Amino acid sequence: MDAVDPIVVPDSWTQALSLPALFPSSTGVQRPLAVDVGCGKGRYLLATARKHPEMNFLGIDRMRSRIHKLSRKLTRAGLEHVRLLQVEASYALQHLLPDHSVSAFTIFFPDPWPKRRHHGRRLFCPSFLNDLDRAMTPGGILHIATDDPDYFESISERFETDNRFDAAPVFIPDADEQTDFERIFTGQGKPIGRASYTRSTT
Ligand SMILES: C[S@@+](CC[C@H](N)C(=O)[O-])C[C@H]1O[C@@H](n2cnc3c(N)ncnc32)[C@H](O)[C@@H]1O
Repeated sequence: MDAVDPIVVPDSWTQALSLPALFPSSTGVQRPLAVDVGCGKGRYLLATARKHPEMNFLGIDRMRSRIHKLSRKLTRAGLEHVRLLQVEASYALQHLLPDHSVSAFTIFFPDPWPKRRHHGRRLFCPSFLNDLDRAMTPGGILHIATDDPDYFESISERFETDNRFDAAPVFIPDADEQTDFERIFTGQGKPIGRASYTRSTT
């Protein structure tokens, strides 16, 4: 049988994805979905997918070359429970992820846009939190890491003042789960800001 192509091309770009179509299941039971936003070269996605055959995974990145390279790595690794979507993350969260479908989000080293005049380009803005709230399952988890102290502070403030989310124990990746950017930044001796939040259960 041919290997599954991990790259998803949605039938519709204006309607939510059909998860049963994306992840066919012989039992009819859908596994919990984890979404890695800005998956990059996929070091984390590959490692976590190997460890968690009981989950389904979706990697989102807007960069075509990264999605294609990662797709080849996933196929070589025989990881058939991972899909990739090349799209703007904010668009995917707003339009493509079904309501209350994501049990775990990881957002590791989102572009920090350090210049004040570029802050509007940052992923974490009020509407993004609304989209996370809509897409996450009740009690779902979100893990964040960044090397940028100013961005970390701004992200933390947003979540601390939003009663739809509660702080949770931070996720510390195993060595094989460290992303490419984490390895670069820790190699440079930069401190990493980490935070995790659970979505409320209602
Ligand atoms: C700094 S890299 C981090 C990659 C990976 N998470 C890591 O830690 O190695 C940011 C990644 O997010 C992607 N990205 C940045 N902004 C994005 C957006 N708005 N939508 C989708 N992907 C985005 C970039 O293409 C890039 O692959």
